[in-house]
Amino acid sequence: MSSSSQTKGQVLVVGGSGSIGWPICRALLAEGYRVISMTRGIHPRPEEYAFHLTGTYEKAMLREINCNVVFSNVLDGVALHSQTREQLSAIVYAVGHCPPGGFDNEVSIPLCYLDGQVLTDELNRQVIGLLHVMGSLYSRIQPSGHVVVISSAITRLTDETCPPWLHAGHYATAKAAQCELVRWFRRDPNIKDRNILVHRLAPAAVDTSFHQGCQHQPPAMLSVDDVAQRVLDALQSTAVIDEIMMPPQATIIAG
Ligand SMILES: NC(=O)c1ccc[n+]([C@@H]2O[C@H](COP(=O)([O-])OP(=O)(O)OC[C@H]3O[C@@H](n4cnc5c(N)ncnc54)[C@H](OP(=O)(O)O)[C@@H]3O)[C@@H](O)[C@H]2O)c1
Repeated sequence: MSSSSQTKGQVLVVGGSGSIGWPICRALLAEGYRVISMTRGIHPRPEEYAFHLTGTYEKAMLREINCNVVFSNVLDGVALHSQTREQLSAIVYAVGHCPPGGFDNEVSIPLCYLDGQVLTDELNRQVIGLLHVMGSLYSRIQPSGHVVVISSAITRLTDETCPPWLHAGHYATAKAAQCELVRWFRRDPNIKDRNILVHRLAPAAVDTSFHQGCQHQPPAMLSVDDVAQRVLDALQSTAVIDEIMMPPQATIIAG
């Protein structure tokens, strides 16, 4: 498949080089979508991702744009690439900070000792970045197109279900704010009038390198393919999907 007329359309995956973003890109490519991955270009590229990027410009099904979504000039970065002037079937927002083996470290500091910059960075990634992407690019999404936000099941933890060692208040706060932003985007007349569906998929811990070698191992994890499949489902859906994704027999320990 090499020309746009033979594909299902074009999807922008923000964070497409990530542990979850890349499997989503891979699943989209396998379904015949052309994919633009937007990242800062800092994350180590999975081998397979780098291989897909080597296609010639005309034939490539995966392209990458380097852009920091925390800054408000998202559109400037995208506009540099004429191929993105074409309408988007969907935007998938999978921005995060889940470095290999980093889970224990990310949940080790109680809120009272936490540097405010850590929360600021998380809010920038999860909330401000999404706001910039939506503000810059909603008009490029085709009518009845889709936005899929990769959220987290951590917002569902209660006082009873939260393990005492899980000092993830900054992350949970940012994810809760992201969740609220999604709800308000659904009410935005610019989104509603064009029948753009804003989905939220909130997985519990996903089997990625983030958890590798860590002391605290979730009792069960979702596979990245489970999440990618649900993204494909959302792109075929005629109704909003808002879903906490749990592995079978799991308690809620979120990634
Ligand atoms: N891993 C889990 O177990 C798990 C479970 C539930 C939910 N989640 C959620 O899933 C999402 C993705 O997680 P992940 O594990 O795939 O994270 P990840 O492996 O760290 O990947 C993050 C991706 O986001 C990009 N990125 C980060 N900051 C950016 C910025 N400012 N502008 C543009 N791109 C940026 C990274 O590329 P660059 O660094 O090159 O920019 C990379 O492509 C996160 O929201 C996370 O909270 C993860």
